[in-house]
Amino acid sequence: MSVKLNKKTIEDIEVRGKRVLVRVDFNVPQDKSGQITDDRRIRAALPTIQYLMKHGAKTILVSHLGRPKGKPEDYEKYTLKPVAERLSELLGTTVELAPDCIGPQAEAAVYALEEGEIVLLENVRLHPEEEKNDLDFAEKLASLAQLYVNDAFGTAHRAHASTEGVTKFVPGVAGYLMQKEIEYLGGALEDPKRPFVAILGGVKVKDKIGVIESLLGKVDRLLIGGAMAYTFLKAQGKEIGNSILDADSLDFCKNVLASAGDKILLPTDVVVADRNPMEPGVDLDSVQTRTVSVDAIPAGYQGVDIGPETAKRFAEAVKGAGTVVWNGPMGIFEIDRFAVGTRAMAQALADSGAVTIVGGGDSAAAVEELGFADRMTHISTGGGASLEFLEGKELPGVVALQDK
Ligand code: 3PG
Repeated sequence: MSVKLNKKTIEDIEVRGKRVLVRVDFNVPQDKSGQITDDRRIRAALPTIQYLMKHGAKTILVSHLGRPKGKPEDYEKYTLKPVAERLSELLGTTVELAPDCIGPQAEAAVYALEEGEIVLLENVRLHPEEEKNDLDFAEKLASLAQLYVNDAFGTAHRAHASTEGVTKFVPGVAGYLMQKEIEYLGGALEDPKRPFVAILGGVKVKDKIGVIESLLGKVDRLLIGGAMAYTFLKAQGKEIGNSILDADSLDFCKNVLASAGDKILLPTDVVVADRNPMEPGVDLDSVQTRTVSVDAIPAGYQGVDIGPETAKRFAEAVKGAGTVVWNGPMGIFEIDRFAVGTRAMAQALADSGAVTIVGGGDSAAAVEELGFADRMTHISTGGGASLEFLEGKELPGVVALQDK
């Protein structure tokens, strides 16, 4: 199971003494006070940053954070200040935050760098030109550097100025994280050790249509859990009570079930709750649950997790697998009572001996929170990017880099 990235990487070029602009994905979750709640994406970029610093580059980091909308209060809300602090702790050296990513303030910070030093530029999305892939803006960004490195796999599906436009003005190569992500995900898709099992969960079928179509042509088994399973159950003619239904995707589900035959495994039992536990103000202790067959989901109840029989069947399918790709939790894992199915799948992957690849924001967070992170072969830092990759789409941020 191996696929080699056909793009140049930081090891293919001389970086010493050069100003190197590195696109990282530091779009990390924060709590209401701005504290970073999961620094995985920052930690994942360290190998590239440390390589550049060790090899005498003048390292200029650029990232987005959130989706600012051009309002005056954006600066406070979307500043990369907490990221600069966290990165400083991880690197054991102070990383200055330049107050802007282009213009005189950015230039002053960049031209002050000595070999082996580093600076982080302020959130690139504070300029609306970034998402428009505006060429003038891309040129200004590129003019700060002599080389460009893209290590932001999580943003590689966006053709933005800092991921794509910039390569029109400065040669671009891949960082270690980008390389690792493409080689693991690509290896699973193109040359999987069989049997190849995929597990999909999450809320909407609509978001996963491309992935389902692409994976069905490659996998030996496709297990479907999470809220999206209820649209498939409905497509089989079952009553699903108040469970989430993606009505627009019903026909798609019917067609897939008709053509995929027994390649698809759906839940046979589920845990249902008498009200929506995610609704604001709901007292979780008062939520009543039952474990029922999928043929007997009571009216007024909604699915919140896969049941024990399903978890066992799914775990059996994973047990003999050579490769497992997992995207999307099996239930509302944020609430401990409904994380049982997701935990059972994480355990099954950990025990399987298979090459295990976890993609997507929620499933990656689940594996991390449930304590199984170091037992997976690879946990992707990409949410949307890993989905688009699994769909078989080309990622603009990768295409734009120099070929080997
Ligand atoms: C992500 O979190 O998936 C990436 O950082 C991309 O962010 P975006 O969806 O706002 O472009």
